[in-house]
Amino acid sequence: MTQSINSVGKVYLVGAGPGDPGLFTLKGKTLLEMADVVVYDALVSEPILAMINPRAERVNAGKRRGRHSLPQQETTQILIEKAQEHAIVVRLKGGDPFVFGRGGEEMMDLQAANVPVEIVPGITSGIAAPAYCGIPLTHRGYSSSATFVTGHESVGKYRPHVNWQAIAQGSETLVIYMGVHNLPQIIPQLIEGGLTPETPIALVRWGTRPDQEELLSTLGSVAAEIEATGFSAPAIAIIGKVVELHPQYI
Ligand SMILES: C[S@@+](CC[C@H](N)C(=O)[O-])C[C@H]1O[C@@H](n2cnc3c(N)ncnc32)[C@H](O)[C@@H]1O
Repeated sequence: MTQSINSVGKVYLVGAGPGDPGLFTLKGKTLLEMADVVVYDALVSEPILAMINPRAERVNAGKRRGRHSLPQQETTQILIEKAQEHAIVVRLKGGDPFVFGRGGEEMMDLQAANVPVEIVPGITSGIAAPAYCGIPLTHRGYSSSATFVTGHESVGKYRPHVNWQAIAQGSETLVIYMGVHNLPQIIPQLIEGGLTPETPIALVRWGTRPDQEELLSTLGSVAAEIEATGFSAPAIAIIGKVVELHPQYI
């Protein structure tokens, strides 16, 4: 449990966007330039880290699959402590802090410790990665609904909290975060829910970055293609007829 303290500073939970520095908000950039401390995640791109005030203290709280550099509780504790000593503490997170970013948990812990906290949204990868490969999430005649859902990336830790069959029926476009490794478990449930093996799927790895990679396939073939090509995380999966609008989709 976090301890209640009298804070002197404020923590800004800032979304860094998906990678392209041109997608970072002006508010986020100004805060990085003024920050006393920046606690950042693994998915934050180098060009954005380069905007950090050179005099600021940097803390790498980066987490990548199977390599947790700081447990969540420790990260929150660092934020609380830094806010006791400094005016501007920036917690920099990939994409948007409130979209599968644990921003809500950090905000609540900071509030419980009486630390002022402000959220600065970022462009989430589920919006940006499809856009950078030419897939509109909604499109007249193709899709009038989109659902953002997590596929839990941790290998061997598949937790079937998501009702995939209901989701298959409830939305025309699905945008799955952290799903690449669990697609072989997820796809049969989507098919049970009514999608066909011919349903198009696109995977976008490192979306908006210079090394963006794309894989276009169908639900019936994608698992074998991931295996054959070695396509890996971090990637967004987009499922639905809108994938046919990708310039290279045949
Ligand atoms: C813990 S979630 C964080 C999501 C983040 N808060 C956001 O709004 O984009 C991490 C997952 O986001 C997705 N992701 C983040 N950045 C990405 C990028 N540049 N390209 C593709 N997927 C990305 C991947 O599915 C990755 O496993």
